[in-house]
Amino acid sequence: MIKIRDKKANDLIPALRLVYSSFSDWYKKVILILLYSYFVAEVNGKFAGFVIPRKIDNNVGEIYLIAVSKEYRRMGIGHKLLEKAMDYFKEKNMRKCISWVRLSNDTAKRMYLKAGFRSEDRTIKKRIFGEDLFLMEIDLVGKDAT
Ligand SMILES: CC(C)(COP(=O)(O)OP(=O)(O)OC[C@H]1O[C@@H](n2cnc3c(N)ncnc32)[C@H](O)[C@@H]1OP(=O)(O)O)[C@@H](O)C(=O)NCCC(=O)NCCS
Repeated sequence: MIKIRDKKANDLIPALRLVYSSFSDWYKKVILILLYSYFVAEVNGKFAGFVIPRKIDNNVGEIYLIAVSKEYRRMGIGHKLLEKAMDYFKEKNMRKCISWVRLSNDTAKRMYLKAGFRSEDRTIKKRIFGEDLFLMEIDLVGKDAT
């Protein structure tokens, strides 16, 4: 059974392990885990992934980091985590959710498209991790995410 919940203190180690195994620049992302609140996905009580939603301003929230453990991928967990983050933003009356996606990350792009995000492929921006990123976004007002 898949459950999405708030983080607990003992999620830190599995979250760090997941970052380490999922991102080539893990050492830079580790600090993000330590700084932010996040939601955790469990499968039958076991840590399976997490999402960090970040407030940009009163209207815009960002999916700052999302990852699912390899053994639990392609089960819809990433989608559920995204929905949880978007519900969190909606509760705060935010109007838009954005995410910066690496050009090379086709899997993440597909996940966002499935959730109803638009791709702004031409909006490319260099970021601190040294790779080109493009913007994906979804309106949170006026329609429900799928
Ligand atoms: C991106 C990631 C979070 C997706 O998590 P997930 O739980 O496997 O995603 P879901 O099962 O919810 O998939 C949702 C949709 O995304 C797309 N998708 C996911 N994995 C895919 C893959 N390997 N190939 C093609 N499409 C894929 C599909 O459209 C899928 O819907 P479908 O299964 O009905 O076809 C996961 O692959 C991951 O942790 N990757 C490494 C970290 C990362 O790149 N994070 C994003 C940038 S911060």
